Amino acid sequence: MSSFILWFLSFQIIQHSFSFSLARGGSEIDKLSLLAFKAQISDPLKKLSSWNESLHFCQWSGVTCGGRDERVIQLDLHSSQLVGSLSPSIGNLSFLRLLSLENNSFTNTIPQEVGRLEFGYRH
Ligand SMILES: *[C@@H]1O[C@H](CO)[C@@H](O)[C@H](O)[C@H]1NC(C)=O
Ligand SMILES: *[C@@H]1O[C@H](CO)[C@@H](O)[C@H](O)[C@H]1NC(C)=O
Ligand SMILES: *[C@@H]1O[C@H](CO)[C@@H](O)[C@H](O)[C@H]1NC(C)=O
Repeated sequence: MSSFILWFLSFQIIQHSFSFSLARGGSEIDKLSLLAFKAQISDPLKKLSSWNESLHFCQWSGVTCGGRDERVIQLDLHSSQLVGSLSPSIGNLSFLRLLSLENNSFTNTIPQEVGRLEFGYRH
């Protein structure tokens, strides 16, 4: 009986740490995707100055996170005078529901990768 309880407990612990690491992995992908997006644009008004390591990415300006696992659900950077190309990495923000990038100077249109997301895009 006690060995069953032990087995059950260790199963619970393994399962818990597994889902924890999955959640961590997901938000790490979101962070890297945002950084890849930033890397391809120039930002003369420094609208993205808060996108740095001293803040969690959920606190970066224009970013809204949701859910227990802190995934990016909104990216709203309209009218920010951003210049450059739209990184396909935003296609990796798998929980993104709203992308608002109108009134900037992006040289390309929405990358194909973004097409597989379901969200409202305003341009
Ligand atoms: C990071 O962003 C915050 C908020 O904008 C700012 O106060 C801080 O100085 C920045 N840190 C660095 C290292 O740029
Ligand atoms: C576009 O953005 C600029 C600032 O970057 C702002 O002054 C202007 O009002 C915006 N235009 C529209 C139509 O939102
Ligand atoms: C999306 O994420 C995958 C896996 O982490 C990575 O291999 C790929 O390069 C990313 N795609 C983009 C466009 O950043």
